[in-house]
Amino acid sequence: MRKKIVAGNWKMNTDLKEGMELAKAVEKLEQEKQSDALVIIAPPYTHLSRVNDLIDGVKLGAQNCASEESGAYTGEIAPDMLVSVGVEYVIIGHSERRSFYHEDDALLNKKTKIALSKGLKPIFCCGEVLEEREGGKLYDVIREQLSVGLAGLSKEDMSKIVIAYEPVWAIGTGVVATPDQAQEMHKFIRDLLVELFDKQVAEDMTILYGGSCKPSNASEIFANPDVDGGLIGGAALKAEDFLAIVNAY
Ligand code: PGA
Repeated sequence: MRKKIVAGNWKMNTDLKEGMELAKAVEKLEQEKQSDALVIIAPPYTHLSRVNDLIDGVKLGAQNCASEESGAYTGEIAPDMLVSVGVEYVIIGHSERRSFYHEDDALLNKKTKIALSKGLKPIFCCGEVLEEREGGKLYDVIREQLSVGLAGLSKEDMSKIVIAYEPVWAIGTGVVATPDQAQEMHKFIRDLLVELFDKQVAEDMTILYGGSCKPSNASEIFANPDVDGGLIGGAALKAEDFLAIVNAY
């Protein structure tokens, strides 16, 4: 049985006080949840250490990490630093990192490898933009992102990775993928993992859907056989909405 996960990506939202309140509220509701999904929150870097002291059932994620171990990289946060404040998961390759900060597949592969080597569990994101979908290139795009991004990883590494499929046109837009669109791409990703690794890796991989997931649409998306949870942006900023999504499982 693969793990079900609902992860909240807070992006660049909340100050420390707000973030601590949100984390406390999520932890409280997580204790009462009616779902066996694992709940992860990914607050901004500045909150991680304090938030870690407030959560127990909820697991801690970061939104990014450096591709280097340490040294003269002003403004970067190394995987070891994240581990030292209790971070377990790290989002790598979110479309906002790819588009606004020009992170390419080769760099994301490097980040994934270093994160794994330090004991972090990457949540590796992929997704196509609208023109790529409309131009019929969506499968080529996902194939490229995953085959380069996950290149050189062992089956053992893959057992520590979570994949998030986030169609860029659905992120923060209110336009959610239909359950069929989500299922088709998740199935494609799982088949691709058979090709790139093997059947076991594919079967065991948790593949999350992300993009305008809300309490009102989560259960239809999660009902698909190849969807194993969600990566939630906007709706993760309200503890009640976020846990309603968790409970939709
Ligand atoms: P959204 O963001 O839920 O606000 O669309 C999802 C994400 O970017 O992870």
